[in-house]
Amino acid sequence: MTLEEKVAQMLQLVASYFIGSGEDSQITGPMESLGITEETVAQAGTALGLGGAAKIIQVQENHMKNDRLGIPLIFMADIIHGYKTIFPVPLAIGSSWDQELAEQSAAIAAKESAVSGLHVTFAPMVDLVRDPRWGRVMESTGEDSYLNSLFARAFVRGFQGEDLTNDFSRVAACVKHFAAYGAGEGGREYNTVDLSERQLREYYFPAYKAALEEGCEMVMTSFNTVHGSPATGNKPLMRGVLREEWGFDGVLISDWGAVIELIAHGVAEDEKAAALLAVNAGVDIEMMTSCYPKFLPELVRSGQVDEALIDEAVLRILTLKNKLGLFENPLRGADPEAEREVVYCDEHRAAARKLASKSAVLLKNSGILPLEADRKLALIGPFAQSTDILGPWAWNGAEGNIATLEEAFKGKIEASNLLVAQGSGIDTVTTGQLEEALRTAAQADVIVLALGESSPMSGEGGSRADITLPKAQLQLIAHLRTLDKPMVTILFNGRPLDLHGVYDQVDALLEAWFPGSEGALAIADIIFGAVNPSGRLSMSFPQAVGQIPVYYNHFNTGRPKKASEPENRYASQYLDIPNEPLYPFGFGLSYTEFEYSQMTLSSEEMNPQSALEVKVTLTNKGVLAGEEVVQLYIRDITGEVVRPVKELKGYSKVLLQPGESKQVSFIVTEEQLRYHHSDLSFTSDAGEFAVFVGANSRDAEEKRFRLQK
Ligand code: IFM
Repeated sequence: MTLEEKVAQMLQLVASYFIGSGEDSQITGPMESLGITEETVAQAGTALGLGGAAKIIQVQENHMKNDRLGIPLIFMADIIHGYKTIFPVPLAIGSSWDQELAEQSAAIAAKESAVSGLHVTFAPMVDLVRDPRWGRVMESTGEDSYLNSLFARAFVRGFQGEDLTNDFSRVAACVKHFAAYGAGEGGREYNTVDLSERQLREYYFPAYKAALEEGCEMVMTSFNTVHGSPATGNKPLMRGVLREEWGFDGVLISDWGAVIELIAHGVAEDEKAAALLAVNAGVDIEMMTSCYPKFLPELVRSGQVDEALIDEAVLRILTLKNKLGLFENPLRGADPEAEREVVYCDEHRAAARKLASKSAVLLKNSGILPLEADRKLALIGPFAQSTDILGPWAWNGAEGNIATLEEAFKGKIEASNLLVAQGSGIDTVTTGQLEEALRTAAQADVIVLALGESSPMSGEGGSRADITLPKAQLQLIAHLRTLDKPMVTILFNGRPLDLHGVYDQVDALLEAWFPGSEGALAIADIIFGAVNPSGRLSMSFPQAVGQIPVYYNHFNTGRPKKASEPENRYASQYLDIPNEPLYPFGFGLSYTEFEYSQMTLSSEEMNPQSALEVKVTLTNKGVLAGEEVVQLYIRDITGEVVRPVKELKGYSKVLLQPGESKQVSFIVTEEQLRYHHSDLSFTSDAGEFAVFVGANSRDAEEKRFRLQK
């Protein structure tokens, strides 16, 4: 290969460069002119954002004809929560606490993508998130590194399967965004991240590492800084941690435009310097800017870059092509006929419905839910008849072919018992709409409000400073409240919201998230009792924006607020709101009631050789079968550095029939008690620990044990 041919392999272009127009390809970043030659386009190594077997076959065949060496392109895209069959957004999947269904959703997304010609998905996104102002929290599974790591593994298994080379129904996964993109200051998109090394290693790194341990083929750099250097030019992070320490030898790709953005960050003077920083850091593919093709050949020829760096990057890219079986089968799984059968088939839609019903979280219920089918309902709100329930990153989703909530309700109750009004837009309301809503609601026994955020209000570029529901919708609630009728609210949104003006006004509140293609049907299943809700929050809901970041595994501080000393001013607290979130991590209600009893420890002491068994009896006290997520938390009472007040260490999803009891058991080992010390060693401390078992991070019974070493 010539130097130019090698460097062209290191360039990723959006599909419009190959198909001649932006119409059919997904654009997920700025489209500035790249100033590259047709020859470079013809030699480029990978394409981004195209889907559809016929188109991809055409582009690949054309490319193979024009490329002197006949090296196939890799087609990559953001298949985040489904290709055409759209599953709930990942934050919702996190709320399912169901790794098996998460894996299945990724396997289905892979199957639909692969038959439509794709080879790589830019997923899973495993950024730890503690700030709901950030729009991309919808794309993460939440605020806990243990739970995120389990989901990271499940997604990678689902996307990649066991044999990428021969199993053409799978795609390679690309874990992102390395590192700590979720910690942007103030929740503002693309903003600065400045965390200590301990914070990174203890909380932010584990989920990326878990994905790599599961065999994830690619990593994407993040837009933010890590220790003062933008990740894309950060050699200690990429060569040091990722490659040398963790042994990653797959392909590292920049995020869209992140190489040229080294200039705006202020660490590169020009495109040439940006190329130099990124290649030195070990970035193999530059996505959608052209610093590499424009300057790497010159940098090599002038001796500023060792050609060995180019060779190793190209080798990694070609190795991935080989692993995907592209040299023998450049079209791989692309098959227009099979695509028609596989994509959005009934089986996939059924899986999406199941996952959506497991992801919804019941936040409040006075007993009004599930609704009886013979009551007259007024379904009101901007989501009553909306198909905007797929959420961000659903670019291929079949929005034209999905049920609305109104349609889903009609499958459950007599049409004559369902009255519908729009009530308001997402952020606009007219007097006429409010009057119509009041008239409609006045004729009903129960008001069901379908409210939320439109999908562009979260996702990339979707940061919000005020995370209440838009004022128009709050006004709608307040108006309907005057009727003094039972009110149920269903929320469609991509982030934990500040729910003042909502939770305090309604009798029941169901967080549906963006539930995907079959979401309306799944929500109707819950509302009318065919499914008992079992979702549990994987991210805290704040009392107010001023409390953010609020997360369950915080430190105790030297002056923790004590319930026994409400008047003490000199405690770590707010004067105007509680310290606790409105709804804590792990929280979610059911239509039945679970009782925890007889929590026991096998011993009050353990050592590195002897595990501890924690048992609890769970009883379904209600009249409906239901699933509970039994959660195990641990606290190291005295550490060498401060330790969180609770850390999730295990959980078990248990299905119980009415009146049934089960003993749930957890094993605690010394390994689970380790953490990063001040010298970054990963060890445990002898001493006292608290262990908690319960329904969520707030409501859990505590016992103590000692670790002897
Ligand atoms: O994969 C995405 C990334 O998460 C954000 N910027 C654009 C990329 C490609 O679409």
